[in-house]
Amino acid sequence: MPTTIDGLEDIVATHSSICDLDGKLGKLTYFGVDIHDLANHSSFEETAYLLWHGVLPTQKQLDELRQQLCANRQLPARMLDLMRLLPTTTSPMDVLRTSISALAAFDADLQNKSAEANLQRAIRLTAMLPTIVMSWEHLRNGREPLVPLPDHSHAANLLYMLSGKLPDDYTAHAMDVALILHADHELNASTFAARVTAGTLADMYASITSAIGALSGPLHGGANEQVIRTLLKIGEVDKADAYIRNALANKQRIMGFGHRVYRTEDPRATHLRAMSKELGERQKDTRWYEMSRVIEQCVKEVKGLNANVDFYSASFYYLLGFPIELDTPIFACSRISGWTAHVLEQYANNRLIRPRAEYIGPKETPYVPINQRGA
Ligand code: SDX
Repeated sequence: MPTTIDGLEDIVATHSSICDLDGKLGKLTYFGVDIHDLANHSSFEETAYLLWHGVLPTQKQLDELRQQLCANRQLPARMLDLMRLLPTTTSPMDVLRTSISALAAFDADLQNKSAEANLQRAIRLTAMLPTIVMSWEHLRNGREPLVPLPDHSHAANLLYMLSGKLPDDYTAHAMDVALILHADHELNASTFAARVTAGTLADMYASITSAIGALSGPLHGGANEQVIRTLLKIGEVDKADAYIRNALANKQRIMGFGHRVYRTEDPRATHLRAMSKELGERQKDTRWYEMSRVIEQCVKEVKGLNANVDFYSASFYYLLGFPIELDTPIFACSRISGWTAHVLEQYANNRLIRPRAEYIGPKETPYVPINQRGA
């Protein structure tokens, strides 16, 4: 038995063509296309096409995908009935996990496991996630959910579903870039959870339910929500340095920092830092960005750690007006494209994922009858 590697750190668990991470260089590519090129020139819809098909789409293919995503935004009517049964205190991530699982019940073609049927599921799930997230946001606040737009971009519809107002071009574009940046990230915990589940040949809904469960944890996707809570708790820019130094001195983790793979700047943080700054300047409220910069410099100096994707997305989403509890669900609204791409890849060349555990428990334990085991 080889020695156990905690957290499977640097263990290569599969082959994949989808996403390449170079932690030393801080390089991230999807099928070889650099994240900086995608962030600067692409759209979430084009990036989703790339993840699902391995090539950038022609204009015709992109137009067709956009139309499919728009056409699949509405939820089955009874899904909203199901949501109405839940206590309004239910967390948005728990509602998202429950809803994805329930969607299997509304898939009349569930037994069709063909690659095409699963690609259609990937498109439908990607189209519906913003509707699930924003419908719950309204229901939990005693409001009626909005009907998704039949047109407009994925990013614009997501923002519309929250506020009922169409975003301006800058805001829609900034949201689109954030969706691109969160779309995929190799074998992170939630993607690995999806592949392990798909590896048993469980269906797409079961695989994505596993992924959402994993993403909800504060060491993974749940970190962005913790970051904004920390910023709000600090409150003022000039209190940030002392607060963070004290937290680190008390061995606390600063959410939004560190990464299992990156040993230099997370390339996604580069864009999110700039977007947090620009949105703050546009809204004449750069407090959260300035506080973030102070924290970033402090953590780098004291722990030598860099900001990850969750650090600046927190202030960016806050400035966009998202309630804090929606930060991780918004992450999922993008990562659904990567998760489904990995599930499709797992199905296409599957082998059950079943590692071993190094046994460290007692051996040769005798079976003692219960009446001889003492009080
Ligand atoms: C995401 O995998 C992915 O690709 C994920 C993701 C994606 O796109 O899917 O990038 C998204 O999940 C980003 C990460 C979001 N999580 C957080 O921001 C939570 C805070 N970060 C940490 O908990 C931590 O950095 C992890 C979980 C991200 C990585 O943990 P590791 O690789 O297991 O590192 P570790 O816990 O072994 O820490 C190594 C050292 C320790 O110091 P020592 O005890 O050895 O002295 O670094 C320290 C840790 O204490 N450390 C931190 C820290 N992160 C690591 N110290 C303070 N604050 C932190 N955030």
